[in-house]
Amino acid sequence: MARLIIDGGKPLEGTVQISGAKNSALAIIVAAALATEGESVLENIPHDGDVGTICLILRSLGVEVWFDRKGHLHVNGRTLSKHQAPYHLVRKMRASFYTAGLLLARLGRAEVPLPGGCAIGSRPVDYHIRGFTQMGADIVIEHGFMKAKCDRLKGTQLYINRSSVGTTVNLMIAASLSEGVTTLENAAKEPEVVDLAIFLNGMGAKIRGAGTDVIRIEGVDTLRGIEYTIIPDRIEAGTFMCAAAITGGNVLLKNVVPEHLRAPIIKLEEAGVIVEKGATELRVIAPPRLQPIEVETTPYPGFPTDLQQPFVACMSIADGTSVIRETIFDRFRYVDELRRMGADIKTERETAIIRGVAKLTGAPVEVTDLRAGAALAIAALAAEGRTELYGVEIIDRGYECFEGKLRGLGADVVREETMEGIDLFTAESPLKA
Ligand code: UD1
Repeated sequence: MARLIIDGGKPLEGTVQISGAKNSALAIIVAAALATEGESVLENIPHDGDVGTICLILRSLGVEVWFDRKGHLHVNGRTLSKHQAPYHLVRKMRASFYTAGLLLARLGRAEVPLPGGCAIGSRPVDYHIRGFTQMGADIVIEHGFMKAKCDRLKGTQLYINRSSVGTTVNLMIAASLSEGVTTLENAAKEPEVVDLAIFLNGMGAKIRGAGTDVIRIEGVDTLRGIEYTIIPDRIEAGTFMCAAAITGGNVLLKNVVPEHLRAPIIKLEEAGVIVEKGATELRVIAPPRLQPIEVETTPYPGFPTDLQQPFVACMSIADGTSVIRETIFDRFRYVDELRRMGADIKTERETAIIRGVAKLTGAPVEVTDLRAGAALAIAALAAEGRTELYGVEIIDRGYECFEGKLRGLGADVVREETMEGIDLFTAESPLKA
Protein backbone atom coordinates (compact mmCIF):
# COMPACT_ATOMS: atom_id res chain seq x y z
CA MET A 1 0.00 0.00 0.00
CA ALA A 2 1.37 3.41 -0.89
CA ARG A 3 0.16 6.97 -1.12
CA LEU A 4 1.44 10.16 -2.72
CA ILE A 5 1.69 13.25 -0.60
CA ILE A 6 1.38 16.27 -2.86
CA ASP A 7 1.77 19.86 -1.73
CA GLY A 8 0.17 21.89 -4.50
CA GLY A 9 0.58 25.36 -5.85
CA LYS A 10 3.92 25.20 -7.69
CA PRO A 11 3.99 25.83 -11.47
CA LEU A 12 5.73 22.90 -13.20
CA GLU A 13 8.85 23.93 -15.08
CA GLY A 14 11.60 22.10 -16.94
CA THR A 15 11.92 19.11 -19.25
CA VAL A 16 10.29 15.70 -19.08
CA GLN A 17 11.18 12.61 -21.09
CA ILE A 18 8.10 10.70 -22.24
CA SER A 19 8.29 6.89 -22.04
CA GLY A 20 7.26 4.31 -24.61
CA ALA A 21 3.56 3.72 -25.18
CA LYS A 22 2.09 1.25 -22.69
CA ASN A 23 -0.73 0.22 -25.00
CA SER A 24 1.66 -0.40 -27.90
CA ALA A 25 4.02 -2.31 -25.66
CA LEU A 26 1.30 -4.66 -24.40
CA ALA A 27 0.25 -5.58 -27.94
CA ILE A 28 3.79 -5.85 -29.31
CA ILE A 29 5.17 -7.93 -26.43
CA VAL A 30 2.42 -10.52 -27.00
CA ALA A 31 2.87 -10.38 -30.79
CA ALA A 32 6.61 -10.94 -30.37
CA ALA A 33 5.81 -14.39 -28.97
CA LEU A 34 4.30 -15.36 -32.36
CA ALA A 35 7.84 -15.83 -33.68
CA THR A 36 9.32 -19.30 -33.85
CA GLU A 37 12.65 -18.08 -35.24
CA GLY A 38 15.01 -15.75 -33.38
CA GLU A 39 14.14 -13.42 -30.52
CA SER A 40 12.73 -9.91 -30.53
CA VAL A 41 14.55 -7.11 -28.74
CA LEU A 42 12.15 -4.30 -27.87
CA GLU A 43 13.33 -0.78 -27.06
CA ASN A 44 11.47 2.10 -25.37
CA ILE A 45 9.32 -0.33 -23.38
CA PRO A 46 7.91 1.47 -20.34
CA HIS A 47 8.79 -0.16 -17.04
CA ASP A 48 5.30 -0.01 -15.59
CA GLY A 49 3.00 -2.42 -13.81
CA ASP A 50 0.97 -3.56 -16.83
CA VAL A 51 4.12 -4.39 -18.80
CA GLY A 52 5.32 -6.41 -15.81
CA THR A 53 2.02 -8.30 -15.74
CA ILE A 54 2.05 -9.20 -19.44
CA CYS A 55 5.66 -10.41 -19.13
CA LEU A 56 4.71 -12.67 -16.20
CA ILE A 57 1.74 -14.07 -18.12
CA LEU A 58 3.94 -14.88 -21.12
CA ARG A 59 6.51 -16.53 -18.85
CA SER A 60 3.76 -18.67 -17.34
CA LEU A 61 2.99 -19.84 -20.90
CA GLY A 62 6.61 -20.88 -21.42
CA VAL A 63 7.84 -17.80 -23.35
CA GLU A 64 11.32 -16.50 -22.47
CA VAL A 65 10.97 -12.82 -21.51
CA TRP A 66 13.67 -10.74 -19.84
CA PHE A 67 15.02 -7.20 -19.55
CA ASP A 68 18.71 -6.63 -20.29
CA ARG A 69 20.88 -4.03 -18.55
CA LYS A 70 19.97 -1.36 -21.10
CA GLY A 71 16.30 -1.84 -20.27
CA HIS A 72 15.53 -3.56 -23.58
CA LEU A 73 13.02 -6.38 -23.45
CA HIS A 74 13.93 -9.73 -25.02
CA VAL A 75 11.07 -12.01 -26.09
CA ASN A 76 11.67 -15.53 -27.38
CA GLY A 77 8.46 -17.28 -28.39
CA ARG A 78 9.98 -20.59 -29.51
CA THR A 79 9.45 -22.07 -26.06
CA LEU A 80 5.72 -21.21 -25.91
CA SER A 81 4.15 -24.47 -24.79
CA LYS A 82 1.24 -23.96 -22.37
CA HIS A 83 -2.22 -22.89 -23.43
CA GLN A 84 -3.75 -21.87 -20.07
CA ALA A 85 -3.32 -18.27 -18.95
CA PRO A 86 -3.42 -17.97 -15.14
CA TYR A 87 -6.39 -16.13 -13.64
CA HIS A 88 -4.41 -14.44 -10.85
CA LEU A 89 -2.40 -12.50 -13.46
CA VAL A 90 -4.97 -12.11 -16.25
CA ARG A 91 -7.51 -10.58 -13.84
CA LYS A 92 -5.22 -7.56 -13.40
CA MET A 93 -5.82 -6.11 -16.87
CA ARG A 94 -7.91 -6.61 -19.97
CA ALA A 95 -5.01 -6.55 -22.42
CA SER A 96 -4.08 -10.00 -21.04
CA PHE A 97 -6.78 -11.27 -23.37
CA TYR A 98 -4.35 -10.68 -26.27
CA THR A 99 -2.84 -14.01 -25.24
CA ALA A 100 -5.99 -15.65 -26.69
CA GLY A 101 -5.03 -14.54 -30.22
CA LEU A 102 -1.42 -15.62 -29.66
CA LEU A 103 -2.31 -19.07 -28.30
CA LEU A 104 -4.85 -19.84 -31.01
CA ALA A 105 -2.41 -18.78 -33.73
CA ARG A 106 0.54 -20.70 -32.28
CA LEU A 107 -0.93 -23.72 -30.48
CA GLY A 108 -4.48 -23.96 -31.84
CA ARG A 109 -5.68 -24.05 -28.26
CA ALA A 110 -6.35 -21.33 -25.69
CA GLU A 111 -7.85 -21.21 -22.23
CA VAL A 112 -7.94 -17.63 -21.08
CA PRO A 113 -10.02 -16.20 -18.21
CA LEU A 114 -12.65 -13.71 -19.32
CA PRO A 115 -11.79 -10.25 -18.02
CA GLY A 116 -14.19 -9.39 -15.22
CA GLY A 117 -15.82 -6.10 -14.25
CA CYS A 118 -13.75 -2.99 -14.31
CA ALA A 119 -13.65 0.37 -12.55
CA ILE A 120 -14.60 2.10 -15.80
CA GLY A 121 -17.71 0.04 -16.44
CA SER A 122 -18.55 -3.13 -18.30
CA ARG A 123 -15.84 -4.02 -20.81
CA PRO A 124 -16.86 -7.20 -22.61
CA VAL A 125 -14.71 -9.19 -25.07
CA ASP A 126 -17.60 -10.41 -27.23
CA TYR A 127 -16.14 -8.84 -30.41
CA HIS A 128 -12.85 -10.71 -29.89
CA ILE A 129 -14.69 -14.00 -29.38
CA ARG A 130 -16.95 -13.47 -32.39
CA GLY A 131 -13.86 -12.82 -34.51
CA PHE A 132 -12.09 -16.03 -33.39
CA THR A 133 -15.29 -18.02 -34.01
CA GLN A 134 -15.65 -16.62 -37.52
CA MET A 135 -12.04 -17.63 -38.14
CA GLY A 136 -12.97 -21.22 -37.35
CA ALA A 137 -12.27 -21.64 -33.61
CA ASP A 138 -14.63 -23.78 -31.50
CA ILE A 139 -15.29 -21.77 -28.37
CA VAL A 140 -17.05 -22.51 -25.11
CA ILE A 141 -17.28 -20.31 -22.04
CA GLU A 142 -16.84 -22.47 -18.96
CA HIS A 143 -15.95 -21.75 -15.33
CA GLY A 144 -15.09 -18.14 -16.19
CA PHE A 145 -12.71 -19.13 -19.00
CA MET A 146 -12.88 -18.83 -22.76
CA LYS A 147 -11.83 -22.29 -23.96
CA ALA A 148 -11.03 -22.32 -27.66
CA LYS A 149 -9.67 -24.87 -30.11
CA CYS A 150 -8.90 -24.82 -33.80
CA ASP A 151 -6.74 -26.63 -36.36
CA ARG A 152 -5.39 -23.54 -38.07
CA LEU A 153 -7.34 -20.28 -38.01
CA LYS A 154 -8.81 -19.41 -41.40
CA GLY A 155 -8.77 -15.94 -42.86
CA THR A 156 -12.17 -14.37 -43.44
CA GLN A 157 -13.93 -11.02 -43.66
CA LEU A 158 -14.65 -9.63 -40.19
CA TYR A 159 -16.69 -6.57 -39.28
CA ILE A 160 -15.94 -5.13 -35.83
CA ASN A 161 -19.20 -3.69 -34.48
CA ARG A 162 -17.58 -0.74 -32.81
CA SER A 163 -14.09 0.46 -33.63
CA SER A 164 -12.33 -1.42 -30.81
CA VAL A 165 -8.60 -1.23 -30.16
CA GLY A 166 -8.40 -4.51 -28.25
CA THR A 167 -10.39 -6.47 -30.83
CA THR A 168 -8.33 -5.08 -33.71
CA VAL A 169 -5.07 -5.97 -31.93
CA ASN A 170 -6.18 -9.48 -30.93
CA LEU A 171 -7.48 -10.34 -34.39
CA MET A 172 -4.34 -8.93 -36.08
CA ILE A 173 -2.21 -11.16 -33.84
CA ALA A 174 -4.39 -14.19 -34.57
CA ALA A 175 -4.66 -13.54 -38.32
CA SER A 176 -0.94 -13.04 -38.90
CA LEU A 177 -0.32 -16.82 -38.79
CA SER A 178 -3.70 -17.90 -40.17
CA GLU A 179 -4.46 -19.56 -43.48
CA GLY A 180 -5.59 -17.11 -46.17
CA VAL A 181 -6.62 -13.49 -45.99
CA THR A 182 -8.40 -11.78 -43.10
CA THR A 183 -10.05 -8.41 -43.59
CA LEU A 184 -10.88 -6.35 -40.52
CA GLU A 185 -13.57 -3.79 -41.31
CA ASN A 186 -14.31 -0.85 -39.02
CA ALA A 187 -10.88 -1.50 -37.48
CA ALA A 188 -9.42 0.82 -34.84
CA LYS A 189 -7.06 3.47 -36.27
CA GLU A 190 -5.10 4.26 -33.09
CA PRO A 191 -1.32 4.83 -33.47
CA GLU A 192 -0.76 1.75 -31.29
CA VAL A 193 -2.52 -0.39 -33.93
CA VAL A 194 -0.26 1.06 -36.61
CA ASP A 195 2.79 0.43 -34.42
CA LEU A 196 1.75 -3.22 -34.02
CA ALA A 197 1.30 -3.59 -37.79
CA ILE A 198 4.77 -2.16 -38.50
CA PHE A 199 6.27 -4.51 -35.92
CA LEU A 200 4.44 -7.57 -37.29
CA ASN A 201 5.41 -6.70 -40.87
CA GLY A 202 9.02 -6.47 -39.70
CA MET A 203 8.63 -10.00 -38.34
CA GLY A 204 7.48 -11.18 -41.79
CA ALA A 205 3.70 -10.65 -41.57
CA LYS A 206 1.73 -9.24 -44.51
CA ILE A 207 -0.51 -6.50 -43.18
CA ARG A 208 -1.87 -3.56 -45.15
CA GLY A 209 -4.18 -0.70 -44.28
CA ALA A 210 -3.35 -0.23 -40.57
CA GLY A 211 -4.37 3.30 -39.64
CA THR A 212 -7.43 3.10 -41.92
CA ASP A 213 -10.87 1.51 -41.35
CA VAL A 214 -9.94 -1.62 -43.28
CA ILE A 215 -6.94 -3.78 -42.42
CA ARG A 216 -5.99 -6.67 -44.71
CA ILE A 217 -3.86 -9.47 -43.26
CA GLU A 218 -2.50 -12.21 -45.46
CA GLY A 219 -1.54 -15.07 -43.15
CA VAL A 220 2.02 -16.44 -43.30
CA ASP A 221 3.49 -19.73 -42.04
CA THR A 222 6.20 -18.39 -39.75
CA LEU A 223 7.37 -15.15 -38.17
CA ARG A 224 10.84 -14.25 -36.89
CA GLY A 225 12.01 -12.05 -34.03
CA ILE A 226 13.33 -8.54 -34.78
CA GLU A 227 14.69 -5.44 -33.03
CA TYR A 228 12.04 -2.77 -32.67
CA THR A 229 11.51 0.58 -30.94
CA ILE A 230 8.02 1.29 -29.58
CA ILE A 231 6.34 4.66 -30.21
CA PRO A 232 6.16 7.26 -27.41
CA ASP A 233 3.15 7.23 -25.09
CA ARG A 234 0.69 9.88 -26.31
CA ILE A 235 -1.44 9.50 -23.17
CA GLU A 236 1.47 10.03 -20.80
CA ALA A 237 2.44 13.06 -22.92
CA GLY A 238 -1.13 14.40 -22.76
CA THR A 239 -1.15 13.91 -18.98
CA PHE A 240 2.06 15.96 -18.56
CA MET A 241 0.68 18.63 -20.90
CA CYS A 242 -2.35 18.90 -18.60
CA ALA A 243 -0.09 18.99 -15.54
CA ALA A 244 1.78 21.94 -17.06
CA ALA A 245 -1.47 23.65 -18.08
CA ILE A 246 -3.25 23.32 -14.72
CA THR A 247 -0.28 24.56 -12.67
CA GLY A 248 0.41 27.64 -14.82
CA GLY A 249 3.65 25.98 -15.88
CA ASN A 250 6.09 25.91 -18.79
CA VAL A 251 7.23 22.40 -19.68
CA LEU A 252 9.20 20.85 -22.55
CA LEU A 253 8.15 17.28 -23.38
CA LYS A 254 10.76 15.16 -25.17
CA ASN A 255 10.27 11.89 -27.08
CA VAL A 256 6.77 12.63 -28.40
CA VAL A 257 5.03 12.34 -31.77
CA PRO A 258 3.06 15.61 -31.98
CA GLU A 259 0.76 14.25 -34.75
CA HIS A 260 -0.52 11.59 -32.34
CA LEU A 261 -1.72 14.38 -30.05
CA ARG A 262 -3.54 16.55 -32.56
CA ALA A 263 -6.96 16.56 -30.86
CA PRO A 264 -5.67 17.16 -27.31
CA ILE A 265 -3.37 19.93 -28.59
CA ILE A 266 -6.27 21.67 -30.36
CA LYS A 267 -8.34 21.50 -27.17
CA LEU A 268 -5.51 22.82 -25.01
CA GLU A 269 -5.02 25.68 -27.47
CA GLU A 270 -8.74 26.45 -27.23
CA ALA A 271 -8.21 26.62 -23.47
CA GLY A 272 -5.57 29.31 -24.01
CA VAL A 273 -2.45 27.13 -23.69
CA ILE A 274 0.46 27.84 -26.04
CA VAL A 275 1.81 24.63 -27.57
CA GLU A 276 5.05 24.93 -29.56
CA LYS A 277 5.62 21.90 -31.80
CA GLY A 278 8.98 20.44 -32.75
CA ALA A 279 9.68 17.20 -34.64
CA THR A 280 9.84 15.06 -31.48
CA GLU A 281 9.12 17.57 -28.73
CA LEU A 282 6.40 19.89 -27.49
CA ARG A 283 6.63 22.94 -25.29
CA VAL A 284 3.54 23.73 -23.25
CA ILE A 285 3.10 27.23 -21.84
CA ALA A 286 0.07 27.79 -19.63
CA PRO A 287 -2.00 31.01 -19.73
CA PRO A 288 -2.69 33.03 -16.54
CA ARG A 289 -6.07 31.22 -16.38
CA LEU A 290 -7.44 28.36 -18.48
CA GLN A 291 -10.51 29.00 -20.63
CA PRO A 292 -13.43 26.53 -20.69
CA ILE A 293 -13.82 24.02 -23.54
CA GLU A 294 -16.32 21.59 -24.99
CA VAL A 295 -15.11 18.18 -26.04
CA GLU A 296 -16.36 14.66 -26.76
CA THR A 297 -14.25 11.49 -26.54
CA THR A 298 -14.23 9.41 -29.74
CA PRO A 299 -11.94 6.79 -31.30
CA TYR A 300 -8.70 8.07 -32.86
CA PRO A 301 -8.15 10.54 -34.48
CA GLY A 302 -10.80 11.97 -32.15
CA PHE A 303 -10.17 13.07 -28.59
CA PRO A 304 -8.93 10.08 -26.51
CA THR A 305 -11.03 8.75 -23.65
CA ASP A 306 -7.78 8.21 -21.73
CA LEU A 307 -7.30 11.98 -21.52
CA GLN A 308 -10.86 12.79 -20.50
CA GLN A 309 -10.05 12.73 -16.76
CA PRO A 310 -6.92 14.93 -16.89
CA PHE A 311 -8.88 17.44 -19.00
CA VAL A 312 -11.78 17.46 -16.51
CA ALA A 313 -9.23 18.20 -13.78
CA CYS A 314 -7.87 21.15 -15.80
CA MET A 315 -11.33 22.51 -16.55
CA SER A 316 -12.27 22.39 -12.87
CA ILE A 317 -10.33 25.64 -12.39
CA ALA A 318 -11.07 27.22 -15.80
CA ASP A 319 -12.68 30.61 -16.17
CA GLY A 320 -16.21 29.42 -17.03
CA THR A 321 -18.24 26.28 -17.71
CA SER A 322 -16.93 23.33 -19.74
CA VAL A 323 -18.88 20.40 -21.16
CA ILE A 324 -17.10 17.07 -21.60
CA ARG A 325 -18.91 14.07 -23.12
CA GLU A 326 -17.56 10.55 -22.63
CA THR A 327 -18.78 8.16 -25.32
CA ILE A 328 -16.43 5.18 -24.90
CA PHE A 329 -16.53 4.06 -21.25
CA ASP A 330 -18.38 4.76 -18.00
CA ARG A 331 -15.62 6.99 -16.71
CA PHE A 332 -16.99 9.61 -14.36
CA ARG A 333 -16.84 7.83 -10.98
CA TYR A 334 -13.71 9.72 -9.95
CA VAL A 335 -15.45 13.12 -10.09
CA ASP A 336 -16.71 12.52 -6.55
CA GLU A 337 -13.07 12.69 -5.46
CA LEU A 338 -12.48 15.90 -7.46
CA ARG A 339 -15.58 17.37 -5.79
CA ARG A 340 -13.97 16.65 -2.43
CA MET A 341 -11.16 18.94 -3.58
CA GLY A 342 -13.66 21.71 -4.24
CA ALA A 343 -14.48 21.10 -7.92
CA ASP A 344 -17.99 21.97 -9.11
CA ILE A 345 -18.91 19.14 -11.49
CA LYS A 346 -22.30 17.76 -12.40
CA THR A 347 -22.54 14.51 -14.35
CA GLU A 348 -25.54 13.33 -16.28
CA ARG A 349 -25.11 9.96 -17.98
CA GLU A 350 -22.24 10.54 -20.40
CA THR A 351 -21.84 14.27 -19.89
CA ALA A 352 -19.89 16.22 -17.29
CA ILE A 353 -20.66 19.89 -16.79
CA ILE A 354 -17.75 21.55 -15.06
CA ARG A 355 -18.13 25.01 -13.60
CA GLY A 356 -14.64 26.34 -13.09
CA VAL A 357 -13.86 27.40 -9.50
CA ALA A 358 -11.21 29.91 -8.44
CA LYS A 359 -9.16 27.24 -6.64
CA LEU A 360 -9.07 23.61 -5.55
CA THR A 361 -8.05 22.61 -2.06
CA GLY A 362 -5.95 19.59 -1.08
CA ALA A 363 -7.78 16.61 0.44
CA PRO A 364 -7.30 12.90 1.06
CA VAL A 365 -8.52 11.18 -2.13
CA GLU A 366 -8.75 7.66 -3.49
CA VAL A 367 -7.62 6.56 -6.96
CA THR A 368 -10.44 4.66 -8.70
CA ASP A 369 -8.77 3.84 -12.03
CA LEU A 370 -5.54 4.54 -13.89
CA ARG A 371 -6.37 7.76 -15.71
CA ALA A 372 -8.51 9.02 -12.84
CA GLY A 373 -5.43 8.63 -10.66
CA ALA A 374 -3.41 10.81 -13.02
CA ALA A 375 -6.22 13.39 -13.03
CA LEU A 376 -6.39 13.53 -9.23
CA ALA A 377 -2.61 13.91 -9.05
CA ILE A 378 -2.56 16.85 -11.42
CA ALA A 379 -5.52 18.45 -9.64
CA ALA A 380 -3.48 18.09 -6.44
CA LEU A 381 -0.51 19.84 -8.07
CA ALA A 382 -2.69 22.91 -8.61
CA ALA A 383 -4.60 22.72 -5.33
CA GLU A 384 -3.96 24.83 -2.28
CA GLY A 385 -2.48 22.75 0.52
CA ARG A 386 -1.79 19.05 0.87
CA THR A 387 -3.40 16.11 -0.93
CA GLU A 388 -2.95 12.50 0.13
CA LEU A 389 -3.54 10.25 -2.86
CA TYR A 390 -4.36 6.68 -1.84
CA GLY A 391 -4.15 3.73 -4.23
CA VAL A 392 -1.11 5.00 -6.14
CA GLU A 393 -0.33 1.42 -7.29
CA ILE A 394 -3.09 1.92 -9.85
CA ILE A 395 -1.16 4.86 -11.34
CA ASP A 396 2.00 2.69 -11.40
CA ARG A 397 0.18 0.30 -13.75
CA GLY A 398 0.42 2.77 -16.63
CA TYR A 399 2.94 5.49 -15.78
CA GLU A 400 6.67 4.85 -15.51
CA CYS A 401 8.25 6.76 -12.64
CA PHE A 402 5.25 9.10 -12.35
CA GLU A 403 6.14 11.04 -9.25
CA GLY A 404 9.86 11.04 -10.10
CA LYS A 405 9.07 12.82 -13.38
CA LEU A 406 6.80 15.30 -11.58
CA ARG A 407 9.52 15.97 -9.02
CA GLY A 408 11.93 16.62 -11.90
CA LEU A 409 9.58 19.44 -12.95
CA GLY A 410 9.64 20.99 -9.48
CA ALA A 411 6.52 19.38 -7.99
CA ASP A 412 6.42 18.82 -4.28
CA VAL A 413 5.49 15.14 -4.25
CA VAL A 414 6.67 12.18 -2.18
CA ARG A 415 5.60 8.56 -1.94
CA GLU A 416 4.89 7.04 1.43
CA GLU A 417 4.42 3.35 2.02
CA THR A 418 1.45 2.88 4.33
CA MET A 419 1.51 0.01 6.77
CA GLU A 420 -1.95 0.51 8.22
CA GLY A 421 -3.40 -2.69 9.59
CA ILE A 422 -0.18 -4.69 9.28
CA ASP A 423 0.82 -4.29 12.95
CA LEU A 424 -2.49 -5.88 13.97
CA PHE A 425 -1.12 -9.21 12.86
CA THR A 426 2.47 -9.03 14.09
CA ALA A 427 3.64 -11.32 16.90
CA GLU A 428 3.44 -8.51 19.45
CA SER A 429 -0.13 -7.67 18.61
CA PRO A 430 -2.73 -8.63 21.22
CA LEU A 431 -5.15 -9.21 18.32
CA LYS A 432 -2.98 -12.00 16.87
CA ALA A 433 -4.24 -14.65 19.28
C1 UD1 B 1 -7.97 0.26 -25.32
C2 UD1 B 1 -6.89 0.90 -24.48
C3 UD1 B 1 -7.49 1.87 -23.48
C4 UD1 B 1 -8.37 2.88 -24.20
C5 UD1 B 1 -9.38 2.19 -25.10
C6 UD1 B 1 -10.18 3.15 -25.96
C7 UD1 B 1 -5.20 -0.82 -24.41
C8 UD1 B 1 -4.46 -1.82 -23.60
N1 UD1 B 1 -6.16 -0.15 -23.79
O1 UD1 B 1 -8.82 -0.47 -24.44
O2 UD1 B 1 -6.42 2.53 -22.81
O3 UD1 B 1 -9.08 3.63 -23.23
O4 UD1 B 1 -8.70 1.28 -25.99
O5 UD1 B 1 -9.33 3.92 -26.73
O6 UD1 B 1 -4.86 -0.57 -25.55
N2 UD1 B 1 -16.25 -3.30 -26.63
C9 UD1 B 1 -17.27 -4.24 -26.61
N3 UD1 B 1 -16.95 -5.55 -26.86
C10 UD1 B 1 -15.67 -5.96 -27.12
C11 UD1 B 1 -14.64 -4.99 -27.13
C12 UD1 B 1 -14.96 -3.65 -26.89
O7 UD1 B 1 -18.44 -3.92 -26.38
O8 UD1 B 1 -15.44 -7.17 -27.34
C13 UD1 B 1 -16.57 -1.88 -26.37
C14 UD1 B 1 -15.97 -1.36 -25.07
O9 UD1 B 1 -16.79 -1.67 -23.96
C15 UD1 B 1 -15.85 0.12 -25.34
C16 UD1 B 1 -15.55 0.18 -26.85
O10 UD1 B 1 -15.96 -1.09 -27.37
O11 UD1 B 1 -17.08 0.77 -25.09
C17 UD1 B 1 -14.09 0.40 -27.18
O12 UD1 B 1 -13.28 -0.45 -26.40
P1 UD1 B 1 -11.83 -0.93 -26.89
O13 UD1 B 1 -11.34 0.02 -27.94
O14 UD1 B 1 -11.88 -2.36 -27.19
O15 UD1 B 1 -10.98 -0.69 -25.57
P2 UD1 B 1 -9.79 -1.57 -25.04
O16 UD1 B 1 -9.10 -2.24 -26.17
O17 UD1 B 1 -10.26 -2.40 -23.91
